[in-house]
Amino acid sequence: MAVASRLDTGRAFAKVLLPTLAKGVIVRRPPVMAMAEKMQADAVAVATMMRFRQRYGPQPLRLRVTGRSIALLLDPVDVSRLLADSPSPFALATREKKAALAHFQPHGVLISTGEERARRRALNEEVLRPEKIDAQGIVADEADLLLRHVRSSGVLTWDSFAQAWWRAARRIVLGSFAREDVELTDMLKTLRGHANWAYLHPRREGLRRRFDGRLRRHLERREPNSLASLAPADDVAEQAPHWLFAFDAAGIVTMRALAIGGSGQAGIWESARLWPTTPVILRESTEPTHWHGAWLPAGTTFVVFAPYFHRDRERLPYADEYAPDIWPTPPEPALVPFSGGPGVCPGRDLVLVAASTMLDTLRDHLAVPTLHAPLPTTLNHFALSFDAVNTTG
Ligand code: HEM
Repeated sequence: MAVASRLDTGRAFAKVLLPTLAKGVIVRRPPVMAMAEKMQADAVAVATMMRFRQRYGPQPLRLRVTGRSIALLLDPVDVSRLLADSPSPFALATREKKAALAHFQPHGVLISTGEERARRRALNEEVLRPEKIDAQGIVADEADLLLRHVRSSGVLTWDSFAQAWWRAARRIVLGSFAREDVELTDMLKTLRGHANWAYLHPRREGLRRRFDGRLRRHLERREPNSLASLAPADDVAEQAPHWLFAFDAAGIVTMRALAIGGSGQAGIWESARLWPTTPVILRESTEPTHWHGAWLPAGTTFVVFAPYFHRDRERLPYADEYAPDIWPTPPEPALVPFSGGPGVCPGRDLVLVAASTMLDTLRDHLAVPTLHAPLPTTLNHFALSFDAVNTTG
């Protein structure tokens, strides 16, 4: 099994893992995002991973970390095996995810195990279906209102986009009565800020309880045409913090799709490939596992650094271009913006419908695209803005 030298272990942390952590894994930090874009931090990270593969070959690369077994995957085929064999022997509920997500969703499926995980996963799969509610109608409504604002101000900024997007998200998850409950999603944002620090930030149980109470009042209405209406409030209450949280990623992906002139669901897929909102997919083995002729111990943390697999110029001719034609069945097993296998994002199809509706409603009224190939590896969505163009209708 390849083991990284001390210097390369240092490089893996300094150039790949820590910059990703610094941007904020659970909620992005605007100043760090701006700096990361300026330095093209992800380009440095991808180049570092490419050098690791040249130096050590395709097998998982173990880092020299005392007391922990950590392996970086370097081979696309290994990525598909890792994801296909989840949650056993490769558990989604890794110690880092548990430490982070416990701040705001201690009962979320992603950090659950065993029978509980199976039950919660089934609930997510059953509820997060685009055909069960009119998500398209809700998003089209909010997009039209947003366009009125854009026409009068002459520009679409991240802030105005995000306000409209959160209204749509609250309506989809909780119902129309929650449309204006900005405080709810602001409380969640504070908790997510703590989650960025995982173990390093104390849990604020008081705030979490207040957030839960407020969320429950919305859920108990079980408003028609909302996800809340599709299952008992007690079950939904455990999963809804993740759903709300994850709509943030869908908004980011939509704004970036606008920046590349994307359209339709393939535009959303591509935006998520080019700038994966889950840059690090983690799994933790529950038993010893065999890789390329060697064993890795139980408790090994496996790291899939998605930008490396999605932007590898040596393998993918379209690495830094907008390539909508590769979706929905990509030619490579490691193009995994929504993960894959039994732990694949259960919200994917709902996201594709909601985000592409927003994208397609806005794009004809804005001066896009603003970016051309080779597309930047880091893109700060907070700084994106688009001028309105004069169209009727
Ligand atoms: C562009 C938007 C989104 C992207 C790119 C995305 C991507 C992902 C990825 C990569 C994972 C796997 C995480 C891991 O293995 O650690 C995941 C899990 C999950 N996502 Fe999404 N997601 C998005 C939006 C959403 C939305 C809006 C919802 C719900 C409404 C959602 C629900 C979930 C759930 C419940 C899981 C956990 C699945 C499990 O543990 O089996 N996602 N998502």
